[in-house]
Amino acid sequence: MPALLLVVPLGACSFNPDREVTPTPPPHISTTATITATITANTAGTSTATSISTAIATATAMPAAATGTTVPALATPTPAPVVQASPTAVAGKPVEVPVTVTPDPDALYSGVRGCRPPDQWQAGPDSIGDPFYPQLGNSGYDTFHYTIDLSADLDSGVITATTTIQAKATQDLRSFNLDLQGLNIAAITVNGASARYNHTGSELTVTPATALKSGDQFTVVVSYSGVPGAVRMEGDPVTMGWNRYAGGVYVASEPAGAHNWYPVNDHPCDKATYTFIVTVPQPYVVAANGTLVGTKDNGTTTTYVWEAHDPMASYLATINIGDFERFEQPGPDGLLIRNYFPRALVGRLAGEFEPTARMIEYFNSIFGPFPFEAYGVVVVDADLGYALETQTLSLFGLGIENSSGDASEVVAHELAHQWFGDSSSLKTWKDLWLNEGFATYAQLLWLEHTRGRAALHEQVQQMYSYITRGNYPPPGDPPPDDLFNPSVYLRGGLTLHALRLQVGDDAFFRILRTYADRFKYGNANTQDFIAVAEEVSGKDLSAFFDAWLYRQALPPLPGVPSLPEGRLP
Ligand code: ARG
Ligand code: ZN
Repeated sequence: MPALLLVVPLGACSFNPDREVTPTPPPHISTTATITATITANTAGTSTATSISTAIATATAMPAAATGTTVPALATPTPAPVVQASPTAVAGKPVEVPVTVTPDPDALYSGVRGCRPPDQWQAGPDSIGDPFYPQLGNSGYDTFHYTIDLSADLDSGVITATTTIQAKATQDLRSFNLDLQGLNIAAITVNGASARYNHTGSELTVTPATALKSGDQFTVVVSYSGVPGAVRMEGDPVTMGWNRYAGGVYVASEPAGAHNWYPVNDHPCDKATYTFIVTVPQPYVVAANGTLVGTKDNGTTTTYVWEAHDPMASYLATINIGDFERFEQPGPDGLLIRNYFPRALVGRLAGEFEPTARMIEYFNSIFGPFPFEAYGVVVVDADLGYALETQTLSLFGLGIENSSGDASEVVAHELAHQWFGDSSSLKTWKDLWLNEGFATYAQLLWLEHTRGRAALHEQVQQMYSYITRGNYPPPGDPPPDDLFNPSVYLRGGLTLHALRLQVGDDAFFRILRTYADRFKYGNANTQDFIAVAEEVSGKDLSAFFDAWLYRQALPPLPGVPSLPEGRLP
């Protein structure tokens, strides 16, 4: 093959937040970019490029700018992609080369991701193999982008939506499953061709006109409408998914509510990026994950376009419709903090969330850099009884203060989840303590940072005695019908405190940082965490974790007196 070596700095890209746009989904499958290249040799106009991968990485992270129409490039530089250049291009002179980039979905993620290899899962195609929730998720494919184009009628509660899913087959597929509860499907296409489907219960089986081969990228478009019905789990008071309330709509889906409003591979093992194109009656405002890239005034309705550029688990996807006012505040290292408060409650809430920037700064210093494009909160004017760490935009209801009128505990908790739960996510719901124990201990770390050691110890003692008094299961083995029990939070958090005492502060904080970094945008289980803890500390911690996570008896905690069961301290 003739040689045309391209030395590639980056393509240009125009990106203009908060401007008016005509919503069009970003081309995450094929992206065009203009690359300035230096031609080192040109013999026939068609040649190979060796260092194109940097440009591809950036092109995949941003909406396209150029309308170039040259040949596809591959995500990996080896084998070197073929590019077309003008036969008259002169060696040694920089030229602009438009390329169409077809990224490998795997290139959208860094580090450890997903929960495969598939041989670890003994599961059929209508399950991803989570022993706690076998009905959730599906295998045989890997989604990498969802575009949810949805309009909501707030009077009737009806949503009318088209969800476009970009995915890659991980095995040959005659048909594949999505999770979707309720709603009426109008049509489904796969790669533009009408597909057959069967919607039974929460399983939507799609049979494309042409079978998919392992490794194929494909696009599924599902058009549907209806009133989403809340999803409930046995023994859980929380109504998951799309929820209507007097002030509008909030979406809170942990662990399994996402499939009440869009067709999805509903398990944190299959993360993806998202575009939300949401049309609501005026004057409602829409707050969703990621970055608000534009709004469009349609007369009586407004369309809001949000882009979540970082991989996200389905239960963390959120759309909130309400009478919100948006507040921005600068965060550390140029991070944008944008909060959405109900107009009527702005005065009180602004104060509650004021410490957020300082918390991020502190957590950056102990967990590593904040993993996402933006942060902030949305507060809904309703009593939820819980908060949720929806990615980049944690969700709160009213009544977030503790008995002393302080909201900083829950504010720190949801923020810490952005590292532990959102960026580094679960491989299986059984290991929920990796989310909740970590976020709970992060509250204590913030307390220690702001109020000192004595405050930390007091809190540790209170948690320890609370757990002693109740007959809770060990945190590593929660019952599926009581997943969010206090042990997962409190004994999970105490497990980290005990680890800190066991290995010392230096190793402990290196463990947290290494774990957050190694599983950034990926998935981990308890074994993965133990492996990091042992590697960093150089200690065999198997007996330690076994006692704290899996044995019924609560281990003694140095410095905290053991209490006889059933007695108040
Ligand atoms: N993860 C939330 C928190 O930060 C709790 C979500 C509770 N969800 C449920 N279905 N019970 O504490
Ligand atoms: Zn939590």
